[in-house]
Amino acid sequence: MCGIVGYIGSKDAGPLLLQGLKQLEYRGYDSAGIAIGSADRIEQVRRVGRVANLAGALEEEPLRGSAGISHTRWATHGKVTEENAHPQPSSDHRFSLVHNGVIENFESIRAFLRERGYQFHSETDTEALANLIAYHYDKEPAASPDGRESHFLRSVRKALLHVEGTYGIAVLCADAPDQLVGARKGSPLIVGLGSGENFIASDVAALLGATLQVIYLNDGELVELTRDSYRILSSEREPVDAVVHEVDWKIEDSQLGDFEHYMLKEIFEQPQALENALRGRIAEDGSTAKFGGLNISPRDLRQVDRIVFCGCGTAWHACLVAEHLIERYARIPVEVEYASEFRYRNAPLDKDTLVFVISQSGETIDTLAALREARRKGYRTLAINNVVGSTIARETDGGIYQHAGPEIGVASTKAFTSQLFLSSMVALLFARLRDMSFSDGFRYMESLRRLPEQVEQALRMNDSLQRVGQWLAGFEHCLFLGRQLLFPIALEGALKLKEISYIHAEGYPAAEMKHGPIALVSESCPSLFLVSQGEVLPKVVANMQEIKARGGPIVAIATESCQLPEGLVDERITIPDADDPTLAILATIPLQLLSYHAALARGCDVDKPRNLAKSVTVE
Ligand code: G6P
Repeated sequence: MCGIVGYIGSKDAGPLLLQGLKQLEYRGYDSAGIAIGSADRIEQVRRVGRVANLAGALEEEPLRGSAGISHTRWATHGKVTEENAHPQPSSDHRFSLVHNGVIENFESIRAFLRERGYQFHSETDTEALANLIAYHYDKEPAASPDGRESHFLRSVRKALLHVEGTYGIAVLCADAPDQLVGARKGSPLIVGLGSGENFIASDVAALLGATLQVIYLNDGELVELTRDSYRILSSEREPVDAVVHEVDWKIEDSQLGDFEHYMLKEIFEQPQALENALRGRIAEDGSTAKFGGLNISPRDLRQVDRIVFCGCGTAWHACLVAEHLIERYARIPVEVEYASEFRYRNAPLDKDTLVFVISQSGETIDTLAALREARRKGYRTLAINNVVGSTIARETDGGIYQHAGPEIGVASTKAFTSQLFLSSMVALLFARLRDMSFSDGFRYMESLRRLPEQVEQALRMNDSLQRVGQWLAGFEHCLFLGRQLLFPIALEGALKLKEISYIHAEGYPAAEMKHGPIALVSESCPSLFLVSQGEVLPKVVANMQEIKARGGPIVAIATESCQLPEGLVDERITIPDADDPTLAILATIPLQLLSYHAALARGCDVDKPRNLAKSVTVE
């Protein structure tokens, strides 16, 4: 949420910052801005709307200089206006600040500074911090008492001591044109190391194509960058000996290639993402999964007698599928919590409870807070996470990387199915540590191995799904109905459709439809049923009849061997037959494509839906 990129080197900073912003735009796209320091001045350009608007403005009015900061905003405090866009200058224009996070006590900081003559031109919390830094800069002696920090860095650190809330910031100072300062608490920030140049960014995607050498800052740390040095200090002013990591994503992973949208590209990358999730994780005897980073012995894993899964949004739906699979195959009681609720609920857990979080970005603040709360109480924690080096990945006791590659489309697709796949492997692991036999485990693993090919097959339906998606685009309301393992997929189908096409959609267990949602059924509210062969099929068919009797159009996404009465459904979309370990994934594919085509037909920006951001780093 909000993307930050900073550069200091010898090249022209403007084009580099713009490129970084474009690669980071999924973090927010209400407005964008850039500030560049040259000689003893800072100049800035800000525009409402997408990074493209900012790029257009910079073409007309280029900023020259080799140190700068930039930002793409997801508004928290203050409307979407140019005045509220970042960078936010201090009122004396000596400092310029970009910020991701929320400064909770900004009103009192503003009041304090107003009394001392500082002026405010925006409604943002960020401007309060820009001015607070200027205030400390004036108060602090220029000479450093012990050489550990420059006047600039010390002023930023002192100002941050008074801030309540969260921040990832990058700051420019007109008096120190050869320095860039950053700091983080609660919002992600990384340092990118180049040759004769250095970067600061809110995530790795911004730096692809510029450098692969990164340092992940920890909460409370500050960094001072020059073109060929970096210095990291803890909040207690202790020098930090940071570890430099090599990023394993390639620039091509984050480019569109032949696709029109990232969402479509990522939908089609799913067979590969699943292969990546499986690679190296099949035990030698082929009957179970193995993971290198769990940091728990099989004996301790056997001790786990309850699992609490936490996540947000699409990842929460993945948790629901994990619940179903683990309870069914491993017979361990599982609960699923919205991370945002779990952290404040103070649920009683016993000592052998495992807290398991799922997060694509590894930065979602509520999921991170749930993880921290669980760790604080001494519970063992695990995470499924896509972004290597993310905060959750670094703070969990053990974890599983998805290796799905960068996901740029704001609506999650390949990351979701990869989370389902890994959840299925986790269920197998737990099951084989308990009562599942070798042959059942072997068969389970065989169905996982077959999945990438089956997903390829499902993707071949794209053309027919385009037609159904375009038909769906003509409605304003829609129900998604499924049972058992397909209920969370109904929720995900509804979420996907509403987030990118703005069609109001609700997901329900098919049988629950009679308890309220049926009131919505009419010719103008279609129902999408997810069905597979099994004991509840006759009940779901009966639900379809109930909808048909009330004139509601019906689309069925059904497995191949699932027999439906002639003439019952208006459209049938057939997916390959599958067992429970892979069924949810196969059922997801057509839902993704339907949403994509419906959104496109309605003229929506599928990669950047209104009001959303990919990584929600504020509560
Ligand atoms: C946002 C995104 C969703 C995502 C959710 C959780 O709402 O728009 O696509 O599912 O955050 O993100 P995470 O990175 O924790 O999986």
